[in-house]
Amino acid sequence: MDILSKIQLHREEEQRLVWEGTFAEYLDILKERPHVAQSAHSRVYNMIKDAGIDTFNGQKKYRFFDNQIFGLEEAIERLVEEYFHPAAKRLDVRKRILLLMGPVSGGKSTLVTMLKRGLEQYSKTDSGAVYAIKGCPMHEDPLHLIPHHLRQDFFEEYGVRIEGSLSPLNTMRLEKEYGNRIEDVIVERIFFSEDKRTGIGTFSPSDPKSQDIADLTGSIDFSTIAEYGSESDPRAYRFDGELNKANRGMMEFQEMLKCDEKFLWHLLSLTQEGNFKAGRFALISADELIVAHTNEAEYRSFIANKKNEALHSRIIVMAVPYNLKVSEEERIYEKMIQASDMSHVHIAPHALRVAAIFSILTRLKDSKKQGMDLLKKMRLYDGEIVEGFNHVDLEELKREFADEGMSGIDPRYIINRISSTIIRKEVPSINALDVLRSLKDGLDHHASISKEDKERYVNYISVARKEYDEIAKKEVQKAFVYSYEESAVTLMDNYLDNVEAYCNKNKLRDPLTGEEMSPDEKLMRSIEEQIGISENAKKAFREEILIRISAYARKGKKFNYQSHERLREAIQKKLFADLKDVVKITTSSKTPDESQLKKINEVIARLVDEHGYNTTSANELLRYVGSLLNR
Ligand SMILES: Nc1ncnc2c1ncn2[C@@H]1O[C@H](COP(=O)(O)OP(=O)(O)OP(=O)(O)O)[C@@H](O)[C@H]1O
Ligand SMILES: [Mg+2]
Repeated sequence: MDILSKIQLHREEEQRLVWEGTFAEYLDILKERPHVAQSAHSRVYNMIKDAGIDTFNGQKKYRFFDNQIFGLEEAIERLVEEYFHPAAKRLDVRKRILLLMGPVSGGKSTLVTMLKRGLEQYSKTDSGAVYAIKGCPMHEDPLHLIPHHLRQDFFEEYGVRIEGSLSPLNTMRLEKEYGNRIEDVIVERIFFSEDKRTGIGTFSPSDPKSQDIADLTGSIDFSTIAEYGSESDPRAYRFDGELNKANRGMMEFQEMLKCDEKFLWHLLSLTQEGNFKAGRFALISADELIVAHTNEAEYRSFIANKKNEALHSRIIVMAVPYNLKVSEEERIYEKMIQASDMSHVHIAPHALRVAAIFSILTRLKDSKKQGMDLLKKMRLYDGEIVEGFNHVDLEELKREFADEGMSGIDPRYIINRISSTIIRKEVPSINALDVLRSLKDGLDHHASISKEDKERYVNYISVARKEYDEIAKKEVQKAFVYSYEESAVTLMDNYLDNVEAYCNKNKLRDPLTGEEMSPDEKLMRSIEEQIGISENAKKAFREEILIRISAYARKGKKFNYQSHERLREAIQKKLFADLKDVVKITTSSKTPDESQLKKINEVIARLVDEHGYNTTSANELLRYVGSLLNR
């Protein structure tokens, strides 16, 4: 479909959703679909819930945030279950300001933006539909029209609770325009839109000295005072502050704690009773989610000030730490690069991974746990199997430091370094080493890093470099084997057959000749030696493997060469040891002969076809690995 047809379709779809009718007709809708009267908080909660929830190892993952926010499952689960869910149930937390607190560029704004864009879409669906009194600048809930003394009866008839009083403006309109006939008041369906200032607002503080509360709650319209005779006539007031406009939806309060404290005190009644004061009017009921965000330093100085106690107790603080999983961090960079004008640049495999390894290391804290180090912790956090540790250890590690993830290198810094590399290198391809070099150079110019941190960070860069060396060697060696997986599986099957025969004191049968033969001790040892199993320990090792296999069989799981971390390592090392000389000679030869050249071209082709390299980065990789193997 071409773009013009799509535009037309879109317009028709918008037309189809439009609805306008009297309050009496609105009640018919309400009878059928009581959820249209839900509160703003409940709408946000349902929006998140309706998108679906997956559970992995007891960890909930809300699909609503998929593809935009990575690695923050725990923070999001806390946010949903400790704030949105109870708020949707009309518990008191909904009157509190939600304050997201986290380190710079850790995804706070992204999270809030997703909620805003999500609500805009959700208000166009049946489950997210919103209705309002027509002509009201605050899109007031039509149910506010029901007088307080009839609300119990209303609840009994419709099962819907009403909260909040009719605003001064609509009270006056009801009288003057509708002669107090509530049933005639015109109601319309509204669609949230930040651009049109409907149900979504953003407030960002200006100069604290001149900050005017009118930006939040609206102001007197001096041009109309003459017409209406008095400042206290609501028609002479413009209800166009962010709080007014965001009514029924949500307001983002950017950098809230940068505001002057006196300014923030205006929020007290809002956070206590769910209403706010505008001009000379009775309190105005607000039904909106207020999300603010701030960083830790500002938050600390805010709570250190005794004068802020009252407001502090009316704020729900949710930590949004940095992601701590390497593979999720990689996805963050991929996303950021996709969204930038660097997306045409070839980024060699593992380039983002090494950057991610580096930044995660800067965010992790050293555990006191026996036998644990930062690299192992990093792997465990990323869901890898680390010999000797299990999920119980993982949970313990996560609980060890409450503020882990609140400091370290931020994603924006990494992306800035990557883009400066691209610009400097002036080639359409960068690799892991380019990235590491650039990260290191950048540390010298990074203003906000202390000297100690800098030393620590430089060290992490070399740790990341070592990780990369291993990855690079494996990658090349794998590309040298025609089919790595197949060879690994064959070698392991062969090993296991021998181990079984050895432990059961059986003979093996030669598959070709059918002759009986003793277990191949030489083969078994050549594999075990790769991981330092001594002659004395070999029996225990072999028995342990058989036990593992039978445990797998009992659970109906298939044992493969990935099932046993050390065996996998041994098999891999053995395969690589057999290859090492070939790889070494081929990759480092300055004047490769014909057969070496053929092999190199084959390997490069495989790296390009199967592993995501281009010819430049594949050649760079081969040269690098050649130099590594010759050290
Ligand atoms: N966990 C994450 N998942 C996905 N993207 C992330 C994550 N953390 C950071 N980002 C990306 O990093 C960039 C900065 O994030 P964002 O602006 O949301 O951070 P912030 O917490 O609001 O930072 P600041 O305190 O500087 O305002 C964005 O491009 C965002 O997409
Ligand atoms: Mg932000």
